[in-house]
Amino acid sequence: ANILLLNGPNLNLLGTREPEVYGSETLDDICAELKDQAHALGHGLETFQSNHEGALIDRIHETMNDGTDFILINPGAFTHTSIALRDALAGVAKPFIELHLSNVHARESFRQHSYLADLAVGVIAGFGKNSYELALQAAHKQLIK
Ligand code: DQA
Repeated sequence: ANILLLNGPNLNLLGTREPEVYGSETLDDICAELKDQAHALGHGLETFQSNHEGALIDRIHETMNDGTDFILINPGAFTHTSIALRDALAGVAKPFIELHLSNVHARESFRQHSYLADLAVGVIAGFGKNSYELALQAAHKQLIK
């Protein structure tokens, strides 16, 4: 299947950004590893990061015509603010998993609400870069069932 990994704002700073919260690996490292893991499971994985809400929305819209079967998304802070991202995911009606490096439920109260989570197949948070790997494995199980 074709899986799309979306990363939202500030995730391009991974590796240098608050490493005590988000780990020391770069987004490129994480994406490269996940691509290998997706291939090993028989899937294609495309990745897209943007700091711009509209660019993420446009990329989500493209999934209607580009053969995407499943979306993995770390929406960054847009998780907690973006009705527009929610509407885009609802609009294309592709199954998706919301994921976070940090355990958002153990942090500030404003991180404990997600505008996307109730539309997601599920949510994975708190496992650092392994959240990406766990999300891929969960997507794989969904796709083969
Ligand atoms: C994050 C959690 C968000 O609250 C935060 O705004 C981020 C990263 C995470 O992966 O832990 O940018 O999505």
